[in-house]
Amino acid sequence: MHTVEPIRWTDEGIAMLDQRKLPGEVIYHTYTDYCDAAKAIKDMVIRGAPAIGVAAAMGIALGVKHSQAKTMRELRAEFAAICDTFARTRPTAVDLFWAIERFKRRFEELARENESRGEAGLAAIRGALVDEALKVHEERRAADERIGRFGAELMPKSGRVMTQCNAGALATGGIGTALGVIRMAVDTNHNLEVLVPETRPYLQGARLTAWELHQDGIPLTLITDNMVGHFLKTGGVGAVVVGADRIARNGDTANKIGTYGIAVLAKEHGIPFYVAAPISTLDLSIPSGEQIPIEERSEEEVTHIGGTRIAPPVRAAHPAFDVTPARFISAIITERGVARAPFEESLRTLAEKKS
Ligand code: MRU
Repeated sequence: MHTVEPIRWTDEGIAMLDQRKLPGEVIYHTYTDYCDAAKAIKDMVIRGAPAIGVAAAMGIALGVKHSQAKTMRELRAEFAAICDTFARTRPTAVDLFWAIERFKRRFEELARENESRGEAGLAAIRGALVDEALKVHEERRAADERIGRFGAELMPKSGRVMTQCNAGALATGGIGTALGVIRMAVDTNHNLEVLVPETRPYLQGARLTAWELHQDGIPLTLITDNMVGHFLKTGGVGAVVVGADRIARNGDTANKIGTYGIAVLAKEHGIPFYVAAPISTLDLSIPSGEQIPIEERSEEEVTHIGGTRIAPPVRAAHPAFDVTPARFISAIITERGVARAPFEESLRTLAEKKS
């Protein structure tokens, strides 16, 4: 399955598709400085929890690759500063912290192995961290395919499905999580049409999901966010499938603002509501969604559209995510299988399962 590539490691640096410019322009920037790569995450050049994880992995590898450190001690200090820079970009997407923790473990392993090798040891660490970043990307792709396969079986044979935001190729670097499920379903002869809420204020639905599906020739209808209730009541929707930014131990799920409302309405109308996410999006360290930090983004993203002011200069709120309580979720689709309530048990089993 060929999909758009939001991020790529190159000899020059990290190439990222500027998602702020879609669908109007398809422009890649190449980042050669890790601070610029971190800023690209913060500024939404790349977004979507798994893709943020890949970008952080590549960003850390980039920082270490270009480090001027001459000793292991200097490299260790610089590595810590690089990790901190990425940790300050987007607080809700747990894949970011998952990638940072993975790199910290890998760095310590490599530092131990190369402690007494001087310059050659530092070079070995630089190379090995690039390999690790490529591995993270490859694992994302494989996870998406498996999520897609598990999820496709849960999709109706024909009719409409709804998603939210963009949990597609642009958001993962693979075929997508929620959109991966839809892609796989369509690929295995499900006759589906996708209802795509535009997802104000950042319009990931209108700009990104509509673009991705349109490119793939998957039928879709774009709707505004305030049409969701109407279509769930009257629109013949057979399932809702969304991505996730962080899933707590009890199954409570943070995803793009608006997801909670869709889940409540889906339950009211007897429509199954599925979350599709890799194991790296689970945060089993927190008992419930109450502990999930919610990113507050700028007021301007609400008061302006595409740089044009649409509201008077008043206060505006922009929580970028909301938390859907587990009781509204029919199942959580991961690359290791499908978890159902009670999630505390089923998620733990999947997390402990060998991949
Ligand atoms: O603010 P964004 O665009 O990064 O938010 C993205 C989402 O909410 C996605 O649904 C989520 O990260 C899952 S992406 C596979």
